[in-house]
Amino acid sequence: MKRTVELRVNGQDYELEIEPNRLLLHALRDDIGLTGTKEGCSIGVCGACSVLVNGRLVSSCLTLAIACQGKEITTIEGLAKGDELHPLQQAFIEYGGFQCGICTPGQIIAAKALLDENPNPSDDEIKEWMAGNLCRCTGYYKILESIKAVAQGKIKAGASRRRDLRQAKIQSLYTSEGLHDRK
Ligand code: FES
Ligand code: FES
Repeated sequence: MKRTVELRVNGQDYELEIEPNRLLLHALRDDIGLTGTKEGCSIGVCGACSVLVNGRLVSSCLTLAIACQGKEITTIEGLAKGDELHPLQQAFIEYGGFQCGICTPGQIIAAKALLDENPNPSDDEIKEWMAGNLCRCTGYYKILESIKAVAQGKIKAGASRRRDLRQAKIQSLYTSEGLHDRK
């Protein structure tokens, strides 16, 4: 029998009519429409579904939505402020912390949880913390560099690069640096 569950996600309140066994992952993606959180293994191994619940890193594929009643949930969509990327998002772009991108929301959420708890982690501490987030593309070094860049203050908070990136991509189509040089 369905139950009414109130979830607070990225500062917004949602009231859902869901089965008691509805996973938080599916409530976020399919009921609320926040598809930034990804489903990989579905068994708590890959970290793609990572979100924060009351600031704590959890696998949303192992968490019942009903258990999050009244708790503060943060997904990847909650990190940017308008057009301003979170420093971790900016760092992953600048330091090449992703390729296909499927693991990236989970990586960034996990990294945020780490830096919230330990703002200046060592390489080993980063590696140990991030061990639960698998990536089949990057070889992990770029992810490590991205997180270190934020910890070391190399990324300026509030960098507003979404438009810049779009602009750079468009420009690359028409300049000698692009694949389709029309000059
Ligand atoms: S989908 Fe949840 S840990 Fe892999
Ligand atoms: S960027 Fe492709 S799996 Fe990590």
